[in-house]
Amino acid sequence: MERKWWQDAIIYQIYIRSFNDSNNDGIGDFNGVVEKLEYLKDLGVNAVWISPHYESPMDDNGYDISDFYKVSEDYGTMEDVKNFIDKAHALDIKVIFDLVLNHTSDENPWFLAAKDPNHKDHKKYHDYYIWQKPKFDKDGNRKMPTNWRSWFGGPVWEFNEATNEYYLHIFSKKMPDLNWRNQDMKDDLKKATNFWIDLGADGFRVDASNHLEKDWDFPEGHPGYEYFSSLPKHHDYLEEFGTEVFGPRDVMTMGEAGGATKEEALKYCGFDSKEFDMLIHFGHCWQDCDDKNELTPGKWAKGSINVSNIKESFYKWFEMLKNQGWNLIYWHNHDQPRVISHYGDDSELHNQSGKMLCQSLYLMPGTPIVYQGEEIGMTNVDYEKLNDFRDVEVFTEYDNFMSFGATHDVAMQALRDRARDNARSPYQWDSSQNAGFSNNTPWINVNRNYNEINLEQQLEDPNSIYTCYKKIFSLRKELKISDGTIKFLNIDDNKTFIYINKTPTAEILSISNFTNSRVTVNLDIKIDGFELLLTNYEEKELSTGIKLLPYESLVYIKK
Ligand code: GLC
Ligand code: CA
Repeated sequence: MERKWWQDAIIYQIYIRSFNDSNNDGIGDFNGVVEKLEYLKDLGVNAVWISPHYESPMDDNGYDISDFYKVSEDYGTMEDVKNFIDKAHALDIKVIFDLVLNHTSDENPWFLAAKDPNHKDHKKYHDYYIWQKPKFDKDGNRKMPTNWRSWFGGPVWEFNEATNEYYLHIFSKKMPDLNWRNQDMKDDLKKATNFWIDLGADGFRVDASNHLEKDWDFPEGHPGYEYFSSLPKHHDYLEEFGTEVFGPRDVMTMGEAGGATKEEALKYCGFDSKEFDMLIHFGHCWQDCDDKNELTPGKWAKGSINVSNIKESFYKWFEMLKNQGWNLIYWHNHDQPRVISHYGDDSELHNQSGKMLCQSLYLMPGTPIVYQGEEIGMTNVDYEKLNDFRDVEVFTEYDNFMSFGATHDVAMQALRDRARDNARSPYQWDSSQNAGFSNNTPWINVNRNYNEINLEQQLEDPNSIYTCYKKIFSLRKELKISDGTIKFLNIDDNKTFIYINKTPTAEILSISNFTNSRVTVNLDIKIDGFELLLTNYEEKELSTGIKLLPYESLVYIKK
């Protein structure tokens, strides 16, 4: 396959609402991003993925689109978007937009027509969504069509009086699911996508891409994910979209989909695939859940970290796509807590663990995505009250925890540990008011630790987490890290993260301790010829019985 730009990309994910506020209304915006493009360039970034920027009532911070052709007033004007694209391109930075194809906002004109039998376009748009007649119990009470559970907790059905039907929403009730069996609907989405390509988009991150097909027999099931996620037919839809829109315009696409067999992985993003170029998958995420917790179950229960599962997931993907597709590597995005709080240490060993996380991930092959603030070790947020949170998911899940018997304190702790809002607090630029994000009260609280953790203080510090990221990004290019072949050592070991990445220019041996205690590693490899490249403590010579300090990370190179 001919070399594509995205194989040499370092993608930076911008959660625009929280990145930089240029007009001091407390909300990040496009002009704010423009102000920071030079910073990103200097960090080594050459592509940015912007979280949804479309017009939206912001029930789910823009993943609920009310007009596919407009930019949200929160983020600027169409001129601002064009200016942003131009400025990014002038710096050789590619622009990746977030594309939400699974659902719209309930305030989208399509849905307004769909739910209103008196609307002039009702007939056309009703079928753009997924409707079912109510069921009734033996006493004649109205019942939902199924007992499926939404990804945000709570039922997937919402009743619409006017048509006497329920509509399906696998996320919040303000996000009705689109009916991908409707050709006009698909064609409308294609048109909207082309609009942004015409404007200059170089690529898309395709949201919730494995949810497009549903089981229209509507069988009962709780949570019932198998009836509305990863059904085989969603591949046909993605292929159709890719063949008609992405392929001919040569835009890069990265889909979002959890869980896949080798066959499916190649369908999504094999070099021959028409669906996507790369896939954002989740096997390495949430590898620290306490399965026994019944009060705040699933991802909400923090347990001990399973390092070997994290490695297994990366390895599985490298193997599945070996020579046949291209991997993405990332720690987390706007949907998971901050990686340093999750898999590292956000207090005493903040600096060491932040660099350890960088050195362990970003020397692997593939294309990296770094999430805003990760490069300075931004941490989870100590939200005090329930209404400090903003995420729609938090409120449904809080009610769930209470119904399972959790106390307020237990529920709050789960939210503080695991809520998506942890990754959504404003970027910590400096120690001025509101961390330099805005002169006005931000839409969500700034993390109180911004005096200790901010970019300004790390920028010139040779030992900072920021400097480590910058160094590694430049090494990626110099050593052709993306093109390597990876082999994990001691993959079953639950404390360490060790691999050799054989690139076209060198062998990189990355050794990290994922625990806060000392460990001794037995390396069953020939160590001669390896020289120290990076350390997050002191220099240390490589030995087969190497002793590691808490979160110690050492990188050796053999040319
Ligand atoms: C994706 C997004 C997430 C959003 C959901 C619904 O998983 O990453 O933030 O809530 O889709 O659009
Ligand atoms: Ca603003």
